[in-house]
Amino acid sequence: MHTNNLNKNTAYFIELEEKYGAHNYHPLPVVLEKGEGIFLYDVEGKKYFDFLSGYSAVNQGHCHPKIIAALIEQSKKLTLTSRAFYNNQLGVYEKYITEYFGYQKVLPMNTGVEGGETAIKLARRWAYTKKGVEENKAIIVFAEGNFWGRTMAAISASTDPSSYQGFGPFMPGFITVPYNDLAALENAFQNKNVAAFMVEPIQGEAGVVVPDDGYLKAVRDLCTKYNVLFIADEIQTGLARTGKMLACQHDNIKPDIVILGKALSGGTIPVSAVLCDDEIMMNIKPGEHGSTYGGNPLACVVAMTALQVLKDENMEENATIMGQLLRDELATLKSPFIKTIRGKGLLNAIVIEHKNPNAAWDLCLELKENGLLAKPTHGDKIRFAPPLIINKNQIIESVSIIHKSLKILH
Ligand SMILES: Cc1ncc(COP(=O)(O)O)c(C=O)c1O
Repeated sequence: MHTNNLNKNTAYFIELEEKYGAHNYHPLPVVLEKGEGIFLYDVEGKKYFDFLSGYSAVNQGHCHPKIIAALIEQSKKLTLTSRAFYNNQLGVYEKYITEYFGYQKVLPMNTGVEGGETAIKLARRWAYTKKGVEENKAIIVFAEGNFWGRTMAAISASTDPSSYQGFGPFMPGFITVPYNDLAALENAFQNKNVAAFMVEPIQGEAGVVVPDDGYLKAVRDLCTKYNVLFIADEIQTGLARTGKMLACQHDNIKPDIVILGKALSGGTIPVSAVLCDDEIMMNIKPGEHGSTYGGNPLACVVAMTALQVLKDENMEENATIMGQLLRDELATLKSPFIKTIRGKGLLNAIVIEHKNPNAAWDLCLELKENGLLAKPTHGDKIRFAPPLIINKNQIIESVSIIHKSLKILH
């Protein structure tokens, strides 16, 4: 292994990734080596506010001491058994998470996209065994602008050419309707083969697109009326990010299937979960779905701790208060280049309007220079989603960095 400290600078590590890694990302030119709470540190020792939180995987803050302690302790004892055998953590976790969210069953997976795949398999199976849809005819409806990962099924649901173009042929039985459009949804539900509508309560990757008040409640009602499963992809919006443990709770509704990931492990290891009741879950029998790592004891212990920390540290409340403060403070900047400020809790974005199409990227470079890390999505949108443990002074300081950085746009 290369241990020459002289070589350990930003350019060196970037060059390594460029040379030996696939070029499937376009990162900001910063090389991070340490994280603590809401801060990240680069290899030159510079400190940054983290305003991305690993795409909302680090809600609890980087290297949360309780989550790391649980990870270390369990990793010394038992990490993986496979599901060929029982282990003494899985059942405990299953009881914990189902009671936490009020569902009868959980199916543990690893990445978020596997959670999405699982939800769709559950919906299709339910459609064939319970709803009476003819085999291979089930339809899943998605919203335009959705993002739920990079597998073939996920990109088959995508309306973003940079996700799907050049990767066909695609999964059949998927259709899309405009987001936040109830008439279009009801129209799609006229087809008796529709098994489910899978939707993000707020579209994260699309740039924190918040639907109208009442949209989710009306979706719930339509799903009930037409006997269609409501699948809520809470992978980015869930786990206190928007000020409630699930974003759907803002509308007091209960989806039929909830998908969780990201912050379910507080940014340590990939842990995802699909929650639903027996009526849906029990249609899948032994041998019909699974994953080598899904439900491993290490993941179970980490997830329980990550969930407990969210509760113990009142992160829902903090996300609500700090999110409002952040949006209010951003509004006081009155920048002509910030077209929109939107979000809920600490899931927020600004939309940049500028003659230079790279303005949002340039602003993120300047933010980095000034000690704050954020990344544009879809060209002109910048997500501001710090860990949920951020405090008032830190919000004020972050906004002053944003204020200072905006000066590079003329
Ligand atoms: C809403 C949503 N669903 C699913 C995913 C996919 O998660 P993963 O990257 O862990 O597969 C993401 C990732 O950004 C997401 O934002």
